[in-house]
Parts: sequence; structure tokens; C-alpha cells
Amino acid sequence: MRSSKCHFLIVLIQFVSIISFYHHMMPIKGEDNKNSVAKVDVGIILDLETDVGKVMHISILLALDDYHATASRSAIRIIPHLRDSKKDDVEAASAAIYLLKDVQVQAIFGPQMSAQTDFVIDLGNRVKVPIISPATSPLLTVKENPFFIRAALPSSSQTKAIAALVKNFDWREVVVIYEDSPYGSGIVPNLTDALLEISTLVSYRSVISPSANDDQILSELYKLKTMQTRVFIVHLRPLLAKRFFLKANKAGMMSDGYAWIITDVLTSLLDSVDPSVIESSMQGVLGVKPYVPRTNELINYTKRWRGRFRQEYPDMDIVELNVFGLWAYDGITSLAKAVEKVGGTAIPKFKKADNREYLTDLDALGTSELGSLLLHSMQNTALKTGLSGDFRIVDGELQPSPYQIVNIIGKAERSIGFWTERDGISCKLKTNGKTATKCNDKQLGDIFWPGESTIAPKGWEIPTSGKKLRVGVPDKEGLEQFLKVEIDSKTQEVTVTGFCADVFKQVIESLPYALPYEFIPFQILDSPTSPDFDDLAYKLFSEVIKYLILIRISLFG
Ligand SMILES: *[C@@H]1O[C@H](CO)[C@@H](O)[C@H](O)[C@H]1NC(C)=O
Ligand SMILES: *[C@@H]1O[C@H](CO)[C@@H](O)[C@H](O)[C@H]1NC(C)=O
Repeated sequence: MRSSKCHFLIVLIQFVSIISFYHHMMPIKGEDNKNSVAKVDVGIILDLETDVGKVMHISILLALDDYHATASRSAIRIIPHLRDSKKDDVEAASAAIYLLKDVQVQAIFGPQMSAQTDFVIDLGNRVKVPIISPATSPLLTVKENPFFIRAALPSSSQTKAIAALVKNFDWREVVVIYEDSPYGSGIVPNLTDALLEISTLVSYRSVISPSANDDQILSELYKLKTMQTRVFIVHLRPLLAKRFFLKANKAGMMSDGYAWIITDVLTSLLDSVDPSVIESSMQGVLGVKPYVPRTNELINYTKRWRGRFRQEYPDMDIVELNVFGLWAYDGITSLAKAVEKVGGTAIPKFKKADNREYLTDLDALGTSELGSLLLHSMQNTALKTGLSGDFRIVDGELQPSPYQIVNIIGKAERSIGFWTERDGISCKLKTNGKTATKCNDKQLGDIFWPGESTIAPKGWEIPTSGKKLRVGVPDKEGLEQFLKVEIDSKTQEVTVTGFCADVFKQVIESLPYALPYEFIPFQILDSPTSPDFDDLAYKLFSEVIKYLILIRISLFG
């Protein structure tokens, strides 16, 4: 795996070398020479075709503006060099090689996707240039990649919050649905572990290809529907999730008895899902996402951000600022702090490899001396009042913030509580006293479940594919305190009351899974002292008899 990756990179470097040869033939602009203020070149690699890429781009521009506006005149200027990776791993790798080899950037922000970052952090390690990436896959670790700084929370950091939510409702089995990609599968080991710790089983894993068509999604959903588990944890990005939930609704799975939990990648980016899809197909869904305090700074920033977005992307519909944009702002601000610390000394160029014969080798990239200093300064850094909240990087990794738990109702989400490692689930955040909507000292605020139900799903159902358990009830005069059957003359709805019915309902209630049932009354007119149950049994399905006997025993014994 490693060696094939290197091979691939070498071919790329040869390719980029040819391009850069032509690049160097062009006249050099004069402005670099006359400028006496020291500058640091920083690479930015984003997928500018994606909304998240654009959101981060605007935040990076604003963070650099703010740095330059407040820094002293002699402070080092940060010169950004933006490359679009076009949602492609090879483009991202080639952008990184160009930035390192030809621009000699001293740090790179990005790329945004985990698969792209995998290549680029290898280069960072070799050239000794910090790669500050919001990649969320826990398969990329800062331990194995000393020059990787994760400026976003890995998807694994929410798994305990999700497990706590599952435990809160006593669900013993869940189905995990995730995207077929390193990003998607990255969460699975941690999520499975977190659930095992609370003795909940992942009964099935459903892997959805990002290129799956609607029919394939629908047939997968019908398969899930025949299973017993009714709790689904969905780890899909907005584009795929939107199609997924439309189909889940079509399959009748956004109804009473089902529970859905979405991970932060969707909860944080809910703005990018059409409101019509949310209203029609995502009602009652629960979600977790990093909690961002709504400070005055954030409100002001959001206004500025929107203005800048319109300026940079005048032809686009406005996209909402999200947590990735805030992390990008805080990440660049931390980088600027690190640059400031290095001071106004002349920035050394990359140290070239001694052996000039191996120009096509990775070694030809040389190594940065400044990169290690920046890395050292950024590895443990904190912004007390970051836009995203308490932005703290420890040993190269952004530290978890509280998670917010939300419930989707109507077009939007409603906050129903928080989770922190220390305090678990609560509807009041102890650190700042922030409370969820309708927090009445309970663990979580009021929840509307799919099917507009207010009762928490049991999470488990006998797979009856819509059939209900038919329970026969003798409908006869007398003994009404034990069993009384009433049939609504208009709706034909059967209501059964009395001691025996209560016992039966209690037993059903106390089962760990939901067992849908219906009462089927049988009129018994003659022989009031010994009702003829044989007749009754004859008409019923055999599976029902045991419940009949149950009722009979409680009647006479
Ligand atoms: C995820 O799993 C890895 C490997 O077991 C572990 O090192 C890491 O601490 C886990 N992360 C979380 C947030 O639990
Ligand atoms: C927000 O902006 C207003 C007006 O632009 C300004 O007066 C105020 O001080 C700002 N607040 C914060 C917290 O930055």
C-alpha cells in the first residue's frame, strides 16, 4: 500500500516537474523583490466545487484579513496560494506537490477530504511542512503523521455521544448505515466499541455507495425493514443523505416505531439539505453535532461572512456558514499566531537535497526549516474565544467540544440537550448554563419521533412486514370487570377494557421490543356458564391461541 502510493507520487512529481518547467519560463513579477517585509507562503487546497469548500474559502480570506489588519506593520505577511482539488485525490496530491516544490509553501491548509489528505500528509511528513486539515476520518492519525494537524473533530469523537443517546432509550440493537468510502467506514470501529460498552449490538451494517442509484437505495431499505432492529444510525454526507431519507420515507420507515440518529456531518450541514426534503422525509430524526456557542462575535462574523460570500461568489445562491467554516477561521488564526511567534526574521528557503541527480525523486522537494517551527507552535495551541468556541489543539488534534443533541421538527432542528464526556447527557450545559428548548430538569427536552409520536420507540420489532398479531377476545355478556369489548359503530374500532385486557397490555408493554397487535372480538351468545372456546379456536390462527389461553387463565384461575 505504502510503496504503491510512493510510486504514484513519483510519477506525479515527474508530471508536475514538466509543468513547472514551463511555469518558470514565464517572466517573474517584480513585486516580490522590492517588498522588504518578510512573508510566508501558505498553500490552501480546497474542493471549491463543494459548498463546504466555498464556506471554508471565505472564512480563510476573512481570517487572513483580520490577521493583517491587527498585526504590526513589520509583522510577517501571510501569502495564501489557493488550489482547487476538484473533488479528486490525484488533483489534491498534484496541487500539494506544486505548492511544495514550486511555491515552497511553509504550511498547507487542507485538503478537505480524508482520502485526499492521506496522500498530502505523507508529503508533509517528508518535506516537514505542517498539513492543517479538517479531514475527519479517524483512520488518519496525528500519532502516525507528525506533520498532520487536525483542525476539525474526527468523526470518532461523537461516538460516545451517540452511544449515550442509545443508552438513554435503552435500545439494545442498532443498524449502522454509512457511506462506502474511507471517510464513511472510518467511524465504524469506534462506534461499534462505544456501543459495545453499553451492551448494545450493531445488528447490521448497511454500506451505501455514493454512486448508488435510487432503486438500489430503496431495495436496501426494504431489506432493513424486514429486520427486527428499528434504530438506525446514519453516517452519510448531505447529498447522499438527502436521497436516502426521501427513499426511507417512501419505504414507510419514517413512521411510528422507527428511530433515526444522524451523525454530525449531516446535522452540522443540515442547511444544505432542501427544506422540502427535511419537512417531508426527516421528521422526528435525532442528530448530534459539535456545540457552537452563539456569541455576539459569531453573530457579527456571520454578517461579514455573508457579505464576503456574495462578493466572492456573486452568481451563487447564498450558502449558510457552518462549523467547518468556523474551524477554518480558527485554524488559520492559530496558524497566523504561530507565524507571528516565529518573528520577522528572513524566512529560509527549503533545504535542497544534496544529490542533484535524483531530481525526480521525492527528495528533490527538499525540506522546510520553518515548517518544524510552525508545527511546534501549532501542535499545542488554544484560542479561548475562537469563533467555534473553545478551540484547543493538543498534540496536533482539535479537542472535543460539547455535543448538541437536536430533534428535527418542521423545516428545522430543535435543541433537546447536550452531551459532554464529563456529565453525559443533560438538557442543560453546565459550562455556560445554556439550556435546550423546554428543558424541565429532565435529561432531554420533549422529542417528536417519526410519525409525530411522543413515545420513544422500543427499537425492536417482530418483523411482521406490516401484519399485526391477532388476538381473539370473547365478547359476551357479564364479567365486564374482567373483559369488556366495545365496537364503535361508525369506525368499527375495537376497544377492549377490563382486568384481563389490562394484564395483556402490561405484558406487551414490558416486552423489550414492540409487538403490534389487534383485538378480534368473537361473540359468544349461548351457554353462559361454559363458553365454547373450541369454536373460537377453530376460527383463529394457531399463533393466537396462546394469548387466548393467557386471558382464559387469568379469567378463571
Ligand atoms: C477510536 O479508536 C482508536 C483505535 O482503537 C482509538 O485509538 C481512539 O482513541 C478512538 N477514539 C475515540 C474518540 O474513542
Ligand atoms: C458587533 O458589531 C457591532 C456593530 O458593527 C459592534 O458595535 C459590536 O461591538 C460588535 N460586537 C462584537 C462582540 O464584536
